[in-house]
Amino acid sequence: MFDNTHFPRARKFWHKGKLHDWSQPSIHVMSHALHYGTSVFEGIRAYNTPKGPAIFRLPEHIERFFHSASTLFMEVPYSKEEIIEAIKLVIKENKLESAYIRPLLFYSYGNLGLLPKFSPVELTIGAWEWGAYLGRHEEKGVHVYIVPWRRIHHIQLEMTAKLGGVYVQSAICGQMARSKGFDEALFLNLEGNIAEGAGENIFIVKEHVLKTNDKTESVLEGITRASLLEIAKDLGYQTSIEPITKEDFFKADEAFFSGTAVEMAPIVHITDGSNPQEGKREYTIGSGKAGEITTKLVTAYKDSVSGKIKKHEKWLTYVYD
Ligand SMILES: Cc1ncc(COP(=O)(O)O)c(C=O)c1O
Repeated sequence: MFDNTHFPRARKFWHKGKLHDWSQPSIHVMSHALHYGTSVFEGIRAYNTPKGPAIFRLPEHIERFFHSASTLFMEVPYSKEEIIEAIKLVIKENKLESAYIRPLLFYSYGNLGLLPKFSPVELTIGAWEWGAYLGRHEEKGVHVYIVPWRRIHHIQLEMTAKLGGVYVQSAICGQMARSKGFDEALFLNLEGNIAEGAGENIFIVKEHVLKTNDKTESVLEGITRASLLEIAKDLGYQTSIEPITKEDFFKADEAFFSGTAVEMAPIVHITDGSNPQEGKREYTIGSGKAGEITTKLVTAYKDSVSGKIKKHEKWLTYVYD
């Protein structure tokens, strides 16, 4: 039996075409994914709007889900439309107005050994009410720790896919950062440039231009990132996609994380622990508070996801249509 203490309002989850009580176990301990990280997942949010809960950029998340699955040679046993309907059903059955939604495809129980030859691909979908991932940080901002481990490089693995196993690096470094009293881990890539957070993309602002990096810098090109690039242009800001050096980052006027879970989090302090021989170096971004452009984008992003911007309604899939 499992309780839902850390999954507020989660009552039912979906697995193999059916809804199950949250408290019920439904997988075998010898499932392939549990041993080797052979799973792919998505993190999606639904927001409360005047027309009821709406899922933000659902088709884009489903596209990425299938791309991730193909990276792991999975044959997805459902169509995209079936998965979309199943996600809506989970939100309805849990009576959620806003939600974090977690679909997961994994090699299940059949055999062990690295090749999941006899392990079927199964889908689970859970949804619950989940506040901002790094807590209430919008005004205060977060303190990031640049970890000594470098982000897995795109010549080593397909980093545009959300592979369960890859997140062991995020889990290790996220815990390392918190154990030292910081809010989140930040990775350099093998080139020594800024890559991304444990589960977030990064933006910097310099002289009113917004800058972010892309997959050639070994980052997951987030859906929030793409949305913010469009929102920033609509607000009249210049944007640029290019590598972000450590220098660029330390001297930025503003910086922030973006991602479905975190939404947006201003970065105001940095501790660079990337070279243990040199010791740690500390930096403050701008005035040490959320910057002006970041704050404007936070508001515009909130308006977009909650259906207040007509032009961005195309990004919403209403649960009750
Ligand atoms: C490593 C990593 N980078 C970036 C992101 C941001 O992606 P998105 O905005 O699609 O949630 C995420 C979150 O999924 C992530 O896990």
